[in-house]
Amino acid sequence: MIPFVDLHAQYISIKSDIDKAIESCISDSNFIKGQAVTDFEIAFAGYLGSKFCLGCGNGTDALEIILKSLNIGSGDEVIVPALSWISTAEAVNNVGAEPVFADINEKTYTIDPGCIESKISKKTKAIIPVHLYGCPAEMNEIIAISKNIIFMLLKIVLRLMAQNILIKRSELMGSPLLLVFSRVKT
Ligand SMILES: Cc1ncc(COP(=O)(O)O)c(C=O)c1O
Repeated sequence: MIPFVDLHAQYISIKSDIDKAIESCISDSNFIKGQAVTDFEIAFAGYLGSKFCLGCGNGTDALEIILKSLNIGSGDEVIVPALSWISTAEAVNNVGAEPVFADINEKTYTIDPGCIESKISKKTKAIIPVHLYGCPAEMNEIIAISKNIIFMLLKIVLRLMAQNILIKRSELMGSPLLLVFSRVKT
């Protein structure tokens, strides 16, 4: 069977860089934040043309932090894709708001812009499109819908590194962007 992800092969191809980075993290005993994270935050903000980039413990925390920073909470609704990792809806629920599910496009597996409009209510505060399985959500259409009613747009970008195309600076439009790393996100 051909493995879906061969992490060992990836490691071997950049072994000396990885070993050096881990060694320096251990010798500095900088296991939380530290210089490597600061360097990444600065470099990634520069890459995005954004003023800020903040490293978080995990993607679920980052989602909640973004929602709280936007003052989203009790009495608010947030539109999320019917297909995503549980954290998308969970974070909305954890801040006291209500996740409202919009169906996905069967071709892209991402939130269907055509299904968003009927889910919008007076309580809608945000849409969380998720770029999933290497498939980018249909951002142009989603941005057009969100522009009309002026609410915020959050984005989660997965499987990004091999697909720089997923992060287009024009997509940012001043809205928060959440990038999740994990071992299966290539
Ligand atoms: C779409 C999506 N959002 C959020 C997360 C949460 O990330 P983390 O596992 O780092 O909390 C994941 C993780 O798989 C994800 O796939």
